[in-house]
Amino acid sequence: MQPISGFSKLNKKEKINWLTENYLKDSKQAKKILKQYWNDNAELQRLHDEFSENTISNYYMPFGIAPNFLIDGNLYAIPMAIEESSVVAAASKAAKYWLDRGGFHTKILGNKKLGHVHFMFKGDDQKLKAFFNSNLKDILKADTSSITKNMEKRGGGILSLELVNKSAQIPHYYQIEAKFDTRDSMGANFINSCLEQFAKTLERELSKDESFTQEEKDSLQIVMCILSNFTPENMVRAEVRCKVEDLAEEGISAEEFVEKFSLAVKIAEVEPYRSTTHNKGIMNGIDAVVIATGNDFRAVEADAHTYASKDGTYTSLTHCEVKDGEFRFWLDLPIALGTVGGLTSLHPLVKFSLDLLGNPDAQKLMGIVAVAGLAQNFAALRSLTTVGIQKGHMKMHLYNILNQLGANTREREYFTVYFRDKTVTHHAVVEEFMRIRKLKSLDDL
Ligand code: MEV
Repeated sequence: MQPISGFSKLNKKEKINWLTENYLKDSKQAKKILKQYWNDNAELQRLHDEFSENTISNYYMPFGIAPNFLIDGNLYAIPMAIEESSVVAAASKAAKYWLDRGGFHTKILGNKKLGHVHFMFKGDDQKLKAFFNSNLKDILKADTSSITKNMEKRGGGILSLELVNKSAQIPHYYQIEAKFDTRDSMGANFINSCLEQFAKTLERELSKDESFTQEEKDSLQIVMCILSNFTPENMVRAEVRCKVEDLAEEGISAEEFVEKFSLAVKIAEVEPYRSTTHNKGIMNGIDAVVIATGNDFRAVEADAHTYASKDGTYTSLTHCEVKDGEFRFWLDLPIALGTVGGLTSLHPLVKFSLDLLGNPDAQKLMGIVAVAGLAQNFAALRSLTTVGIQKGHMKMHLYNILNQLGANTREREYFTVYFRDKTVTHHAVVEEFMRIRKLKSLDDL
């Protein structure tokens, strides 16, 4: 096979022809699969094609709803885009549970985002400091005024500019660290545009400053300008709380439940093998809402995991406490989201999701997303410390296998009862399916 040049220039049909002819034996069937996922509405299809490059089809993801979320006194039906079975069911269950116990509470703990001009300077550190602290900050701001004008009108903009000496980590390494308020936009384009202008201004101003020698001027090297996806100053807290006695359930006393639940959280706080899985469960809820609302889940993931390891050991993102007979369980989450810009007004399902949530501003959406994460974690820990996780998971696992086998409604009902007291394995489901259908092999299907 030969590499191809100009693949991006081919039209969709040509791309598919090239692909199927070169990589896929059954090119007819492969083409059929791709076409099956095209939207009948040509305009809508074009919109989706243009979100990215080299698109040949659409990739479906289940879009579900977790209702009954009482958040800060308002009831929400939360949209979730996720392929993993039982995540939406777990979220709905946790929502219902807390509906009777005061609901979820959220609090914004900060709204500053950061970005850096990373540069090298092989000169006098004191001179650089004096240069930066003279009037460079004002010039940096003035030079970005055309970029910041609209953001400032919305109440945001550049909050601060600092010179940071990083030469202890890498010789001659410095940063301009800038903090921003990007209001309801995620802010990546805004921040990066400001940073690239800062770099140009730094080069221009340093080259004409007479306090530096020519050698010092020549040593300035801009390495890169980029926002940080770590946003420890752009944080939200989601919390649930109730009297310990309100946690009593059939088969388990409130005290026993709280003790085991608290231990499960403590284990996630000290044991990275567990915190990874514990936080993965939290991200099940978070990513699903982040994707449904058209936000960047990779940025959200990176942010959360850096925060979870900020003290040198990877730890739990949630915590709990029992004080004066009250149980508190909370999630502190750094997160950068947008409710304007990006896909928010372009993707019809994203627009639908935001409408469904009452068109929240970015801070409200941060709260809703964090609640989805906390709810998910509560549901997982509640199952893990009581009946175990497999009970709920296995039902969905069973349905997935039955779907693959093409079981009908009556058969699904039969299997739900049949596996009530048995372990669901792929082998066991297939065996019973073949028995009731009187099949010798699945090839007879
Ligand atoms: C599965 O996707 C997530 C869980 O493993 C989370 C957890 O263990 O806390 C159930």
